[in-house]
Amino acid sequence: MILILDFGSQYTQLIARRVREAHVYCELHPYNLPLEKIRALAPEGIIFSGGPASVYQADAPLSDPDIATLGVPLLGICYGMGVLAREDGARTARAAAREFGPAELVVDDDSDLFQGFGVGHKTPVWMSHGDRLEEIPRGWTVLAHSANSPIAALADRARRRYAIQFHPEVVHTPRGRELLENFLFRICHARADWTMENFIEAECARIRARVGAAGVVCGLSGGVDSTVTAALIHRAIGDQLTCIFVDNGVLRRDEATRVMEVLGAAFHFRIKAVDAGARFLQRLAGITDPEEKRRAIGATFIAVFEEEARQLRDVEFLAQGTLYPDVIESVSFKGPSQTIKSHHNVGGLPERMRLKLVEPLRELFKDEVRTLGGALGIPASLTGRHPFPGPGLAIRILGEVTAARVAIVQAADAIMHEEIRAAGWYDRIWQSFCVLLPVKTVGVMGDERTYEHVLAVRAVESVDGMTADWSRLPYELLARISSRVINEVSGVNRVVYDISSKPPATIEWE
Ligand code: XMP
Repeated sequence: MILILDFGSQYTQLIARRVREAHVYCELHPYNLPLEKIRALAPEGIIFSGGPASVYQADAPLSDPDIATLGVPLLGICYGMGVLAREDGARTARAAAREFGPAELVVDDDSDLFQGFGVGHKTPVWMSHGDRLEEIPRGWTVLAHSANSPIAALADRARRRYAIQFHPEVVHTPRGRELLENFLFRICHARADWTMENFIEAECARIRARVGAAGVVCGLSGGVDSTVTAALIHRAIGDQLTCIFVDNGVLRRDEATRVMEVLGAAFHFRIKAVDAGARFLQRLAGITDPEEKRRAIGATFIAVFEEEARQLRDVEFLAQGTLYPDVIESVSFKGPSQTIKSHHNVGGLPERMRLKLVEPLRELFKDEVRTLGGALGIPASLTGRHPFPGPGLAIRILGEVTAARVAIVQAADAIMHEEIRAAGWYDRIWQSFCVLLPVKTVGVMGDERTYEHVLAVRAVESVDGMTADWSRLPYELLARISSRVINEVSGVNRVVYDISSKPPATIEWE
């Protein structure tokens, strides 16, 4: 495995992604991970990430200098380069010209890290630094330079330490992947054994060893994470797993039927389907504040789930679809922050019911979860779905949530998705949905004046939901959605398209 020590760069997760794309297992830990823990992980190589600090600051984060005694190859990226160079007494100083953006790298030595590039080869790299190395540390050789950074890559071959000023992990460094692979395979001799098949086998063994003969309960939402979690655990322990699917009344149309058909009928999961729609709607009555809606749904969900789970016998474990970004978030250099939004993260339940957690996806990124779902046989129609928020349609109905309004949004949402799929746009979009506005406008249908609701359509493109831009859907597609919704969904006489990006807007309206 490869250990990535995080000095706080915005790109650290990307380093982990790239290493895994090369089929090498890696873990990300804070820069000050104690030496005994590092030794216990037995890494084949260690990567020091970039970071926002400057190594010459008095309180600069530094790694344990004894890491060198492990004899493991090291690669320092950007700030990580400064950390390694500082250990050998080289000065880093604020550069006269700060460098943010593309630069041209010239390779001076292609014997290992740049193998395959060729000496004198010029290649674009992404720079993002205000400091630069002023001198070559003792025992190191320069491997590459750029106009602004005479020492852009260097190596101390005797001790197998390498350092680069630029970021090989971002797409703007087109040959960064090759460079990282050279480090992984030529320098660290890492094993490329991180494949989904190996993961499934190892994880199933781990689940069986952990739960023994006990029962496991899992909340199924129909979303990708909970579905894949359940499928993996089911593969490991079969009917020792019971899933609970709570219909909270604010799901997409036919969601419950669909989940039962695919997962219950096709996969033979043991699923308890609970139709709690009326109970949720009752609890939501009169609430207009979005945060209050979230709290009401979260609390009701936990109550329903707990009632159902208590009826199961011999249950000792609760399965959760926690992903690696949530884990990293809670341990990273940037400090603990555990604000996981989804109400399906059934907070508080494990302690109350004395359940132990099983989180088989906690080493995976979202795209790996989708691949895993495919490898487990879950149809792409489920793994490739747009994310759907825990509070569901309740945060897409502005104002009070009532059964009639839910029915309007469900009908409009079904039409919109039918048209988006038919036009071949579904997989190009990160998320698409309808929002029912608490605004009425005048219209005319036939010869009659109408006074009905406005419905907003939103479709966005994004890689992680953190930032997003509105999708440039073809006018013809928007026209079909609009005319079908107005004709087929009673209660709506006007459709508008949301053309706001995130930031400054958010994806959801509430
Ligand atoms: P925003 O609206 O914050 O959304 O730009 C970013 C992503 O998070 C989803 N989202 C939620 N998911 N519970 C959830 O489980 C919530 O309360 C919630 N609010 C937003 C949103 O759909 C998008 O994918």
